[in-house]
Amino acid sequence: GYLCKPGGCVWTKNINALYEILSITVAKFSLRKPSHPDDDLCYIVPGKPDSLAACTFNSTSKTFLVIHGWTLSGMFESWVAKLVSALYDREQTANVIVVDWLTSAQNHYVVAAQNTKTVGREIARFIDWIEETTNMPLENIHLIGYSLGAHVAGFAGSHATNKVGRITGLDPAGPDFEGEHAHRRLSPDDAHFVDVLHTFTRGSLGLSIGIQQPVGHVDIYPNGGSFQPGCNLRGALEKIANFGLFAITDAVKCEHERSVHLFIDSLLNEQEAAKAYRCGNNDMFDRGICLSCRKSRCNAVGYDISKVRKARNVQMYTKTRASMPFRVYHYQLKIHFSSKVNRSELEPSLTVSLYGTKGEAENLELKLKEKIATNKTHSFLLVTEKDIGDLLMLKFKWEETNGWSASNMLKMVSSWWSGDSDSGDMEVHKIRIRAGETQQKMVFCVKDPEAQKLTQEVTFVKCKDTWRTNLTQTPKR
Ligand SMILES: *[C@@H]1O[C@H](CO)[C@@H](O)[C@H](O)[C@H]1NC(C)=O
Ligand SMILES: *[C@@H]1O[C@H](CO)[C@@H](O)[C@H](O)[C@H]1NC(C)=O
Ligand SMILES: *[C@@H]1O[C@H](CO)[C@@H](O)[C@H](O)[C@H]1NC(C)=O
Ligand SMILES: *[C@@H]1O[C@H](CO)[C@@H](O)[C@H](O)[C@H]1NC(C)=O
Repeated sequence: GYLCKPGGCVWTKNINALYEILSITVAKFSLRKPSHPDDDLCYIVPGKPDSLAACTFNSTSKTFLVIHGWTLSGMFESWVAKLVSALYDREQTANVIVVDWLTSAQNHYVVAAQNTKTVGREIARFIDWIEETTNMPLENIHLIGYSLGAHVAGFAGSHATNKVGRITGLDPAGPDFEGEHAHRRLSPDDAHFVDVLHTFTRGSLGLSIGIQQPVGHVDIYPNGGSFQPGCNLRGALEKIANFGLFAITDAVKCEHERSVHLFIDSLLNEQEAAKAYRCGNNDMFDRGICLSCRKSRCNAVGYDISKVRKARNVQMYTKTRASMPFRVYHYQLKIHFSSKVNRSELEPSLTVSLYGTKGEAENLELKLKEKIATNKTHSFLLVTEKDIGDLLMLKFKWEETNGWSASNMLKMVSSWWSGDSDSGDMEVHKIRIRAGETQQKMVFCVKDPEAQKLTQEVTFVKCKDTWRTNLTQTPKR
C-alpha cells in the first residue's frame, strides 16, 4: 500500500510495520462539547495529562469513542455530529470523543481496511493511558464504530490491556473481513459486550458492504439486514452492477448509514425503543413465529440493549419504519384455513385491518410466504407503524388474485344453481394473535358466524384473552 504524508508517498508491503517504525500518529482524539457537537475544539493527547484537564475530561463519567469508517472526502460525515449530540442528549456528563483517523481512512478501500489494525492499536494505547492516568474503570468505556470503524473498535478492544465495557458495531464493513478469523475483525472477544446492527448486508457478486456473519454477542438485522425502507435500493444495485461495489451512491449510503440512525434514534427516543427478536433466520421471522420474549429472546435495539454476555452471535430481527422514530409494532397472526372440500393450494391476497384502544391500522397486506393449503394453520407477520393500543377487533379479507378463472366461474355458477353458496369456500373461524411489543396473546372469533364468507370482509372480535395451551403446544411451523 501507499503511505502518504505531506511531502510524498512511500510504497510498502507492510504498512503497519512502517507506521510503527516511523511512529506516525494516525489517530487524534477530539473531546467534543455538547454545545459544539460539530467542532473539534480540544484534543486529548496521550502522554499529556494536562490535555485531559484542558479538555475538561470527567474521569468518573461514561466515555464514548466514536469511530468513523472509510472516507472518500477526507471529512467527517454529517452523522458524526448527530451521534455526538444524541449521546450528550442521553448522557449529559459523558465524555464523547471523536476519533479522527481520516488521513488513514482516505485511501483505496483495501489500504484503509489494512489500516484499521494500526489505528485500533493506537486507540488501545490511548485507552491504556486513560486507564493508568485517571483510574477510570474500563466498564465505563463504550466504543462505537461505523463500517470500517467497527473493526477499528474491535482491534482497539483486543489490543487494550484490559477489556472495555462495550463495543457497538454499526454495520461493520464486509469486504476483507467477511469470513476472516475472529482476531482479524470485530468479534465478541473484543469487549465485555459487543452489540452489532447490520443494515446493508447485500451487495452484488457475493460481496456485501456490511458484514453478513454475526460478529458480536448480539447481532441485530433490522428488516433482514438487507433492504431498509425509505432507501432507493433498486437504483443503488444498478449502480453497483455498473460501477462496482464501491460506487457509493446516496442509496447505498442510506442503507449502510441506517445503522447509525437507528442507534441515534435509540438514544433520542428512549420511550419508543424498538424491539428485536431472536430468530433462526429472517424467513422464519417474516412468518411471525419469533415474537416471543421468554428467556431473553427479545431485546431493545440500540443503546438500551440488555447485555447478554453468555451468548455469542445471537441473531435478532426487527422491522422498522422508513424514518425516525423507526420502531414498529409486530404481530403474529395464526390462521387456520378450512374447507369441506380439498382445494388446490391458493395464493389469495389477504388484507387485515386492526382496531385497538388507541387507534386503528387499516388494509394491511398479509404477505404470503407459501401457498394456502386446505385445513392447515398458516402463520404471518404483521406490523403497524403506530401504537393502536390493545387489540379489540379485526377485519379480514380474502381476495383471489385469479378470481375470474374458468374453474372459479364454474364453481360460482354451480353453487348459485344448487343454492349451496359456501360449498367450496375456504373458511376461517379463529385468528390467534401474539403482540410482540406487549407479549399479549389473544384469540379472535368471527363476530357473526352466519355471515362468514371470506370473499367479503369478515369481522373478528376478541373471544379469549389467551391462546389455549393445547393450541400453543402444536408444533410450531
Ligand atoms: C462528572 O460526572 C459525574 C457523573 O458521572 C457527575 O456527577 C459530576 O458532576 C461530573 N463532574 C463535572 C465537573 O461535570
Ligand atoms: C377439514 O376439516 C374439517 C373439520 O375438521 C372437515 O369437516 C373437512 O372435511 C376437512 N376438509 C378436508 C378437505 O379434509
Ligand atoms: C389435499 O390434497 C393434497 C394433494 O392435492 C394433499 O397433499 C393434502 O394432504 C390434502 N389435504 C387434506 C386436508 O386432505
Ligand atoms: C384443549 O384442552 C382442553 C382441556 O385442557 C380440552 O377440553 C379441549 O378439548 C382441548 N382442545 C383441543 C382442540 O384439543
